[in-house]
Amino acid sequence: MSRFDNQTVLVTGGAGGQGSSHVRAFHAEGANVVIGGIDTQRGTALADELGPRALFTRLDVTDESSWSAAVLAAESAFGALNVLVNNAGVQNPPATIENTDQATWARILDVNLTGIFLGIKIATPALRRAAGGAIVNVASIMGLGGTAHYAPYVASKWAVRGLTRTAALELGRDRIRVNTIHPGVISTPFIHEPAAGATAAIADFYSPEPFAVPRLGEPADVTRLLLFLTSSDASFVTGSEYVVDGGLLLGPALPAEAA
Ligand SMILES: NC(=O)c1ccc[n+]([C@@H]2O[C@H](COP(=O)([O-])OP(=O)(O)OC[C@H]3O[C@@H](n4cnc5c(N)ncnc54)[C@H](O)[C@@H]3O)[C@@H](O)[C@H]2O)c1
Repeated sequence: MSRFDNQTVLVTGGAGGQGSSHVRAFHAEGANVVIGGIDTQRGTALADELGPRALFTRLDVTDESSWSAAVLAAESAFGALNVLVNNAGVQNPPATIENTDQATWARILDVNLTGIFLGIKIATPALRRAAGGAIVNVASIMGLGGTAHYAPYVASKWAVRGLTRTAALELGRDRIRVNTIHPGVISTPFIHEPAAGATAAIADFYSPEPFAVPRLGEPADVTRLLLFLTSSDASFVTGSEYVVDGGLLLGPALPAEAA
């Protein structure tokens, strides 16, 4: 018996860096997995590789009708939807607030915040039909402080926290738990490839050496926490925020020679 036998899990951005790690892990632990995303080629390839307990559905998280189709696809294929992972997200090209145009602001908020609002809204009736379940919203440690040159991204991730807490209050009596994960710097295309229009990538200027756990995070670091939060082991955990950053938020550790 595996932790997610007979459960159906929808992961947005499920073909991407962290998303595909989550999809593979849920699948390995017995779940039916629905890979939602805009990368049809990679999403289809992952579903084909995993076999009959996997399905790709084209899901643009900013589009409500796309959400309705994805939830319907999950229920039609597997009979129910039990877990929603709002993982899809985009970063803005680095720029000061005064140099950020409104279209960029709106695009980042649309994917990172409205996309999660729509996901909660459209998946809720399905989770209720399944007699309860779990939602995890992926924010960021940038949603816990300020980061110069990332105002749209930071604001979107802060807002996800308020949305999560509100959803947890509204849905608790329906046995639907809602939590937030705040990853640190995780080794995916997100940090290795420049945001559209940017010349540098986050990995170009971030170095993990000074921090408590002196390495980049791996998608699996986030996946393990996610599986805990969506499992029955976390049945009393809702409206909470979990940081997985190797101690980055603590600030730099003292160099050994200072001890
Ligand atoms: N990698 C990091 O260091 C890091 C740190 C903190 C938070 N995060 C967050 O983790 C999540 C996953 O990011 P990742 O590291 O896997 O990056 P990634 O760029 O590899 O994956 C992002 C995924 O989101 C998908 N996506 C983008 N727009 C979409 C849309 N409109 N509809 C559906 N899917 C869409 C992309 O196709 C991709 O699959 C994001 O929410 C990101 O903000 C990442």
